[in-house]
Amino acid sequence: MIYGFIGTGTITAAMIEGMMTSALDVTKVLVSPRNAEVAAGLDARFSKVEVAASNQAVVDEAEILVLAVRPQVAEEVLTALRFPSRRKLISVIAATDHSKLGSWTGCSEAEIVRAIPLPFVADRSGVTAIFPADSIASELFAALGKAVECKDQNEFDLLAVASSMMGAYYGVMERVGGWLVEHGMDDRTTSRYLTPLYASLSQVAATNADASYSGLRQEFSTKGGLNEQVFREFEENGGSSALLKALDGVLERVREG
Ligand SMILES: NC(=O)c1ccc[n+]([C@@H]2O[C@H](COP(=O)([O-])OP(=O)(O)OC[C@H]3O[C@@H](n4cnc5c(N)ncnc54)[C@H](OP(=O)(O)O)[C@@H]3O)[C@@H](O)[C@H]2O)c1
Repeated sequence: MIYGFIGTGTITAAMIEGMMTSALDVTKVLVSPRNAEVAAGLDARFSKVEVAASNQAVVDEAEILVLAVRPQVAEEVLTALRFPSRRKLISVIAATDHSKLGSWTGCSEAEIVRAIPLPFVADRSGVTAIFPADSIASELFAALGKAVECKDQNEFDLLAVASSMMGAYYGVMERVGGWLVEHGMDDRTTSRYLTPLYASLSQVAATNADASYSGLRQEFSTKGGLNEQVFREFEENGGSSALLKALDGVLERVREG
């Protein structure tokens, strides 16, 4: 298969890195010339990667096209191109729905699959939501970790919101770490303790796939103990409502797409 990428930035680089070490059948990967530095870096690292002369050259030659520009420039970039009919398009452009993508590319919405790859696709451990279900997109993202096919637009939008928790996840670690340092802990001990603690918690959830998060929270919170106190005070002081409000706000933004 010849893959092509329009937009050669962070997520394209991560996907190509994962693809190049996967078992996918890849004949060639064409990348658009911009960003020149990232494109040249990929070309230098991987023999199957070629920098095309233009975005149109990528569209003309690729059998599977990945659209990976920022939402702000998507209309300008896509409307400038001529897309052949019956070309498989996988759009990773955030908050940009099928009807916009269809009208900007002139392609049938049925040929377009939306996906939310995460940076972990680089080491083939990324979970990627896709909509609608599609065998080509599923094969690609399964090779880069795990593909989750959404049954409707609502599920896809909700997973887009869930994927926006990455910053907050590290933000919680940042706050806890900052608090420890403020109280006299040195930076290095802080991260040497917190990082494995959080990794173990995720590992427990991963190996007990049937356990509910609420069940795990209770299991890891002795009655009347310190863990129970932190979550209770977090709830009482508006922590949960602030989080839920943020998720509602992101959902609104995702649905505007
Ligand atoms: N990063 C993630 O984790 C992630 C995850 C899922 C989805 N996404 C989505 O994927 C898309 C790309 O995100 P990103 O993080 O990879 O952004 P990025 O690093 O900014 O990459 C976007 C690339 O598009 C290039 N570009 C700008 N104008 C162009 C044009 N006219 N023709 C061709 N390329 C052009 C930019 O080049 P210049 O640098 O020269 O401007 C840049 O290399 C966004 O829609 C984002 O929402 C990102």
